[in-house]
Parts: sequence; structure tokens; C-alpha cells
Amino acid sequence: MDTIFVVDLGSQYTHLIARRVRELGVYSEIVVHDRVIEEIKKNRPKGIILSGGPSSVYESDSPKLENEFYELIFNEKIPVLGICYGLHLIVYQLGGKIKSHEQKEYGKVELHILRKDKLLHSLDDNEIVWMSHGDQIEKLPEGFIVLARTKTCPIAALANENKLLYGVQFHPEVAHTPKGRVILNNFLFKIANAKKEWKLENWIIQKVNEIREEIGPKNQVILGLSGGVDSSVCAVLLHKAIGDRLHSIFVNNGLLRKGEEIEVQKTFKEKLRFKNFHYIDAENFFLERLKSVSDPEEKRKIIGHAFIEIFENKTIELEKTYPNIKFLAQGTIYPDRIETAATSKTASKIKSHHNLTLPENMKLKVIEPLKDLYKDEVRKIGEKLGLDKELIERHPFPGPGLAVRCLGPIDKEKLDILREADSILIEEIKKAGIYNSLWQAFCVLIPVKTVGVMGDFRTYEYICSIRTVESLDAMTANFAKLDWDLLEKIASRIINEVKGFNRVVYDISNKPPSTIEYE
Ligand code: XMP
Repeated sequence: MDTIFVVDLGSQYTHLIARRVRELGVYSEIVVHDRVIEEIKKNRPKGIILSGGPSSVYESDSPKLENEFYELIFNEKIPVLGICYGLHLIVYQLGGKIKSHEQKEYGKVELHILRKDKLLHSLDDNEIVWMSHGDQIEKLPEGFIVLARTKTCPIAALANENKLLYGVQFHPEVAHTPKGRVILNNFLFKIANAKKEWKLENWIIQKVNEIREEIGPKNQVILGLSGGVDSSVCAVLLHKAIGDRLHSIFVNNGLLRKGEEIEVQKTFKEKLRFKNFHYIDAENFFLERLKSVSDPEEKRKIIGHAFIEIFENKTIELEKTYPNIKFLAQGTIYPDRIETAATSKTASKIKSHHNLTLPENMKLKVIEPLKDLYKDEVRKIGEKLGLDKELIERHPFPGPGLAVRCLGPIDKEKLDILREADSILIEEIKKAGIYNSLWQAFCVLIPVKTVGVMGDFRTYEYICSIRTVESLDAMTANFAKLDWDLLEKIASRIINEVKGFNRVVYDISNKPPSTIEYE
């Protein structure tokens, strides 16, 4: 299949570029800059996109490309598109000059197009683009021509058609560049001549065959199902491939949202007719272990270990009846696996939250059928495989569940209070038609009691904090500016209907510096 490499030079948008390429129908992979030569030799890409990055080419430790990279792409005639820092690097390494400009450009600017060649084909004379740079090109290397400029940046897009090198100073991958898709489309199909082969229907057929082949005719597979999108899609895909040779284990850790354990069972047992669906009610087991624990990392550790223990015991029990259980399936997706320069700072922490590595003595072979997919692709596949829209569009929910939203030591009483409030919030957000525009919406129990008055009585109850955020990838997030009337309705419903809360506050912090979750 035709592949585009996206070389990570430290941009926060590396994954976004790769996703955009796939949205346009071409398979993309992220490659670390110091492995690009090796990767090109292994699997010649149809084209290469060099990401942006926060560095300056003159810094001694900024990411660079080796001479051999240029030799390879020229010999193999592989087109390259440099974005921002990626563009500076091409220019600098081929003999041009970059300088730090006093007038930094940040935000939307007007681009004047001088040549509507292949890269800027079908654009208007002036287009809005999104810039974020200090450095800019002062002198072009030999053989390059200018394709576009802005008021303060005389070389905002360029090309060397003979060498198949192209570059833009702005960011075509972000939504603030309205015609960015057209530019990427031109690079993929007019310059790299890639074929539109990345179709999820084909992916499903191919993956189902691959799974069958890898697992063989008799072996069985075990999978931990959380009810979230990734593990659910992974389960339906495997079920399609090997039917009831899939054993799904769903653990109720007592930290789920209201009614979740019933919903998940209904979906998999009744609707999708999974025969080997194993529900384990471990609420007491988890809550007992979490009793009086207040340190957030300690809570996470306890939850992780308790899950492994339960999962392992159930697997051992199942292995007695089904000795052919040889595989462990996991719903790992591409961003969980591919750390870019931007994600690596947080990746190790997030991984300690998400990925529960099972003890080695389980001796199961791991199979990760979704490992090359982005979340939106996983969702589309889930939809094609017949999962309910409701499940597919669900907001992310942390592995430790309500434990990180019920602050301090937790018990069933507090969790029940939180569950009730949370379900009211979600119901109202859905009624208002804004659920899908939010990254997450949830309630948090703040274990501080304040005074209230209900009728003739004084109350002394906990505080409920409402957190609703908008985000693209959870790396950054802004609190959602919800309508006051909607907030008022939610708050009064929570205070009137949930015994345990007499005060509701709205969280107006952004990430960074705050995080999305509370613990
Ligand atoms: P923060 O709170 O770090 O969250 O801004 C970023 C995203 O990650 C989710 N999150 C978790 N997911 N286990 C998980 O599986 C965790 O311990 C955990 N902590 C945060 C969070 O819901 C948000 O989408």
C-alpha cells in the first residue's frame, strides 16, 4: 500500500499531520527523524512530510537530517514537503539561509499566492493560513522558487520542482488554515502520485483475515473489555474473525458510571451475542482495597494491581476449561504506541495509567489489531461493525474510573452520590445537543462540606464540581463556555435530586496549567 512518512521534528502537530493524510485516503506513518533513512530503505514511501518543531536550525542540538537522507530521496525521486521547521531544515541543509525575524508571526495571516503550481493548485490569489514561527527564510538555496508570501514573510511557500522538494512556512494541517486540506491533497496526489488506498472497509477485510491466520483454527483469545471505544471495537473485530473463540472479561471495579455495568452486558451479551462474555462483579474487592487510601498515585496502583489479580485468576480458571487460550488481545491504538516529541513528555505517565502489563507468567501472545489506527478510524470501524453510535461516541473515561473524580478516600456512598450527579450532567448535556462537541463532561466530588438551606432545614453536604472541556487530543484543553441557563438547570437538578450535594461549582480552568481530571 502507498505510504507517506511523517518525520517527527518535534512538532505538537505530528499526529495531526498523519491523521490528515489518512483522512485524504493515503496510509501514513510517523517516523522519528534519526531513523528515517533506515525506514526509507525498508519501505520506500510515496512521499515524505517533515513536521514543524519548536527548534531553530542553528541550535546545535536541534533535530537534523543526514546527508544520506538527501541522497536517498534524490536517487529514489521521493517528493518531500517541509512544514515550518521542516522547511527551514531543507533550506538550511541545502545551502540557504534562515534568520530569526524580530517580527514573529503567530495566528491567522493572509497568504498571497504568486505561483499556483502543483502544490498551491486551485487556491485563490489570497488565502488565510495559520502561522507560528520566529525564524524565516532569508536566502533560498539554488534551484528553488518562491510560491507565496505574506506581508512579513517574503518566502512563505517554495518549491524545487526538479528535486521534488516543497515547503510551506505555515501549517496546512491545522483547521485554522481553511485550504490546508487542498494543499496536502495536492502534495499527495499531484506531486507524490499516491493512490487512495486507505479505506477502512478494505482494512476490516484484510485485518479479519490476518487475525484468523495469526490465531490459527483452534487457538482462543482472551480480552479485557472496559466498555470504552478501543476495547469494544477490538472485541467486535476479533469476534467477527474468530467468533466464540474470543473470551471477553469485563470487570466491574465499582468505579464505573451509573448503569454502565448493565449497559455493557446488554451490548455484548444480548445485542452482539457474545457467548463467552465473562462478567465479574468485583466492586467489594476493589472498594475494600481502596478503603482509607487518599494518595492519587496509590489509588491508581491499587486499582491496577487489583485488576491484574482478578483478570489473571479468571484467565487461569478459563484455561482449565479452554486449554487453547493462547492469545491476549489489547485495544492499543496508534497514539498509545507512537510517541512523538510532543507526546513523549506525558506519554510515560499516561501509559502508567492506561496500559496494564500483565505478568509474564501468563505466557500469552499479545495481539493488538488496532495498533495502527487513530481514534477516529477506530470509531468508524466500530460503526461499520455494528456498534451503537452511543458507545462509539462516548467521551474518554479514565482506567481508574470515578476513583480519580471522587477526591481523597473513597467509599460506596460517595461514589453513588457522584454517579447520580454525573448522570444528570450527561443527560442534560445530551439534551442540549452538545455532547459530541465536548471532549469530556463529568462531575467531581469534592469532599468538603458546606452549609446550605433546604426548606426549613440547614444542610451540610459535599461540593460537586462540574468539569466540561473542549480538546483535540487531551494534551491541551479549554473549559467549555456553557450557556448559563444550561448550567443553572444542571446545578439545580443536582442539588434537588442528589442527596449528598448542596452546592455546585463550575470549573473554569484550562489545561495547561490545570489537568482535565482532578487526581
Ligand atoms: P489529564 O487529567 O492528565 O487527562 O489532563 C488527560 C486525558 O487522559 C485521561 N486520563 C486517564 N486515563 N487512566 C486513564 O486511562 C488515568 O489514570 C487517567 N488520567 C487521566 C483523562 O480522562 C483525559 O482524557
